[in-house]
Amino acid sequence: MYDTTTPQLRAALAAATEDLLVYDLPGIADRHDALVGELPGAAVRFAMKACPVDEVLSCLAGRGAGFDAASPMEIRQALATGTPADRIHYGNTIKSDRQIAEAHRLGIRDFATDSVEDVRAIAEFAPGSRVFCRLATDGGGALWGLSHKFGCSPADALRVMETARAAGLTPAGLSVHVGSQQMTAEAWSAACDRMADVLDALRRRGIALDHINLGGGLPALGYRDRLGTPLEPPLDKIFAVIREGMQRLRAVAGTPLDFVIEPGRHLVADHGAVRAHVSRLTARRQADGERRYWLYLSCGKFNGLYEMDALQYTLVFPEYRGDDFVPAVVAGPTCDSDDAYSHEGSPVQVPRTAASGDPVWILSSGAYATSYTTRGFNGFGPLPHALIRDDRAPLPAAVPGGSR
Ligand SMILES: Cc1ncc(COP(=O)(O)O)c(C=O)c1O
Repeated sequence: MYDTTTPQLRAALAAATEDLLVYDLPGIADRHDALVGELPGAAVRFAMKACPVDEVLSCLAGRGAGFDAASPMEIRQALATGTPADRIHYGNTIKSDRQIAEAHRLGIRDFATDSVEDVRAIAEFAPGSRVFCRLATDGGGALWGLSHKFGCSPADALRVMETARAAGLTPAGLSVHVGSQQMTAEAWSAACDRMADVLDALRRRGIALDHINLGGGLPALGYRDRLGTPLEPPLDKIFAVIREGMQRLRAVAGTPLDFVIEPGRHLVADHGAVRAHVSRLTARRQADGERRYWLYLSCGKFNGLYEMDALQYTLVFPEYRGDDFVPAVVAGPTCDSDDAYSHEGSPVQVPRTAASGDPVWILSSGAYATSYTTRGFNGFGPLPHALIRDDRAPLPAAVPGGSR
């Protein structure tokens, strides 16, 4: 299984005496640079929702990334990194009149859309802007499909883009999201085919797009599935298929086409880890007559690990040297039965002697941890974070159509 820890991350986790979330900025920067190397010609727009932490955003901005923002608040946070507005887009198809106007006032000129209603509002409150139309995908192959709330059919996309042109907007691009933690290369291939068809149909209607947004969905490498089996996404194949798709789309466009990609979890998940502690290991007979171990941790669904209903994180018990493990259901600290990390049918091996206060490391937990945390459900507050600094010199930004 992919080892997500660096010596620096291990040292930071080992040095912690209280619970916290550690972000490894050099690791995040390296993952960004590797992605840029794999997809030449695609400008990275980090999906801020995956980790809206100022230092992480500044680190990525320093490597040349722009941002996919989903609200005026995120736009302001992105601008605060010094990133110019033309490298930030409003990637949320859901926006009120007021939010569109505010984004426009902040300098944003690129807006995602998927409906005629939204396009008309953009024309009114952000006149003259550029829009890119999000096509629906079925979300197959992904841990989180994202298939219902966003995106339109190819036929609707034609109407949306024709409406945009008639309303004085620039119909500038197409986007997709193949589903988060997408485990198959085929999903990108199908998405590129779908975009190629729409690109071609638009070209025939006299609408020449200037860019394609490949969306999010690139996987983290250090997760386990709900049963605890390591997830091993075919990352090399995914990149190869995306490169082929980019070539196909360029050929169909016939005119210069830029690419952007909006990774979220791929950049941050494996380079963030939680240091939590054992609250209690118990053994008790359940209503079904089975005797089970439960390991309650200080951190759970409501204070950093919201995504644990769909996956398991790798747990490390750094102070335990023995080999006497028991299968336990692992759960968070709140008085809420949904706050369970593993499921009764998929216990995790934990030290039989785990005692209250023992440290536990929860690996690959850097994505969506800060954004999905509650303000303090049952009094368990958000985790503070610590940073492993990146002292490399910043790189110049990659702009669509640029050489990097
Ligand atoms: C528009 C958009 N782009 C990118 C992302 C990032 O997705 P992921 O973390 O799967 O890369 C999201 C996440 O929901 C999104 O809504």
